[in-house]
This record gives sequence, structure tokens and C-alpha cells, in this order.
Amino acid sequence: MRDSQEVPLSTGTLRYSTDDPEAIDRFREMVLSHYSLHGRDLPWRKTTDPYHILVSEMMLQQTQVDRVVQKFLKFIERFPDFSTLAEAPLSDVLTYWQGLGYNRRAIALLGCSRRVMEEFGGKLPADVDTLATFPGIGRATASSICAFAYDLPVVFIETNIRRVFIHFFFPEEATVADTEILPVAEATLYHESPRLWYNALMDLGTSLKTTVPNPNRRSRQYTKQSVFEGSDRKIRGCILKLLLSNGRMTEKRVISLVSEDPGRVNQLIRDLEGEGFLTRSGPYIAISTR
Ligand code: ADE
Repeated sequence: MRDSQEVPLSTGTLRYSTDDPEAIDRFREMVLSHYSLHGRDLPWRKTTDPYHILVSEMMLQQTQVDRVVQKFLKFIERFPDFSTLAEAPLSDVLTYWQGLGYNRRAIALLGCSRRVMEEFGGKLPADVDTLATFPGIGRATASSICAFAYDLPVVFIETNIRRVFIHFFFPEEATVADTEILPVAEATLYHESPRLWYNALMDLGTSLKTTVPNPNRRSRQYTKQSVFEGSDRKIRGCILKLLLSNGRMTEKRVISLVSEDPGRVNQLIRDLEGEGFLTRSGPYIAISTR
């Protein structure tokens, strides 16, 4: 169990600044000692296999750790490597993605695997610029893959990391932009092991969530995840679920089973078709086979 008393809350007496090399050392020690006491034992931390790291990072982009753990384990059991995933039909991948939400990531992950097989001889590139050209991979995900799979000294911010830096380096600022945080992330990076460092930063950021008022409310980048109930996201999920369980269906039947405004459901079906989730044949719609 995490003991909230041991999370270093105090920023008043221990102000951190990158102008002071001793403060940087103190900050590193604090982050690493928190990790050795409270670090989480997560399945993607037991591996450096780039495929496993890619899958976990894509899942973690918009889904909480607790929800990802079981889904990740089942996913890599069914699709153990790039070549298996690249050969899989989209419907199988979506089935294993159920419960994670934001299904576009499943299509993107499939696209990544196919690209790795077709263009990179089955090996995930080990540099941020190349990875950031892959579907669904932005610079933060490209960087986290480089840190966790390849132990490279990349500099990046994601939500947990942002929380740590705002709390310890900007305790009094009303708003903090990522452009202010990046130089701090760069100055404090623990070059001996970027992999260890980023795991430790993320876990401290997670602990802070339950011990101080969310520092990310002071982030210029802060956005709340949108409400799920009644959202397009929820209806899109319902449409895909129906088609995954029933196979091919008439569009009319899908619309009648989703109890929402028919015009809205019709538009969402067209969106899904345009994004490659669905294919149409006469009155029928179905999950795309590739
Ligand atoms: N969020 C994004 N990447 C993560 C990771 N590797 N571990 C925990 N939380 C994360």
C-alpha cells in the first residue's frame, strides 16, 4: 500500500530550481527513492520488447493503468508479436480492444504493425522522428517508446510527468505551459537510466494525484476527458460492439438497435466507414476485414 505521508508534498522548504545543481540532485534522489519505495509492478515494466512497449503505450494514451493491465496481457497473448498482429483481421483486434475505448487506436496499432513488417523488416525504429510518423503515435508516445524500449535519453512530457514538474518546480504559478516545463525535464533527466527515470516520474505523478490538489489544473495544456454518457464516443462503441457480436448487419437494423437519434447514428456509421472501421455492401455494413 502506498503511504501518502511518505510522498514528498512539501515544496515550501524544498524548493526545486534548475539553477541549483544541488537541487537537481535532491530532486533526482527524491524521485528515485519514491520509486524504490512505492514503484508499481506493471507487466510492461518486466519487458523491453519494443512490440510490448508499443502496445502498452498505445493503450495507456487514453486509458487508466488499472484498466489497461488485464487488456494488455490478453492482447499480447493473442497477438504476441508484430507479424501476428500485422496478419490479424481488424475485427479480432477490435474484439481484444473492447473496454479500452477510443477504438481508433486499435486501427492505428494495426497500421503500425503492418508498417513495421512491410517497411522496417519487423523491427520497430529506435528514433523519435521516425516513430512520430507512424499512425496514432505523437511525439510523446514516440518518446516514451524510445525511453522504455531502448533506454534512450529523450525528453518528453505526459500527464503524470507534467504533474510532477508543476508541483515541484512551479508551486506558485497560476498557469504553466509545456514550453516552460520542457527545459526542466531536460535539466533533470537522469541519464544513467532514462527507462528507470521515466517509470519513477510517472509513478510519483500518479501518487501526487491522490495526495495534493491536481497540479495539472494549472497546466495551460489541461483538458478534462470529455463526458462519456450520451457522447459520440459511446454511440460509436455501441455500433462496433453490435457488429462485432453479430457480424454483417443491415444499417437499418443497427440504427434501430442503437436507441439514439437515427440521423445521428447514420452520420456516425458514415464516419466509421470513412475511418476504415466499416465497409458497406448494399444495405449491409460490417467490420472491415483489413
Ligand atoms: N502512462 C503512459 N505510459 C505509462 C507507463 N509506461 N506506465 C504507467 N503509466 C503510463
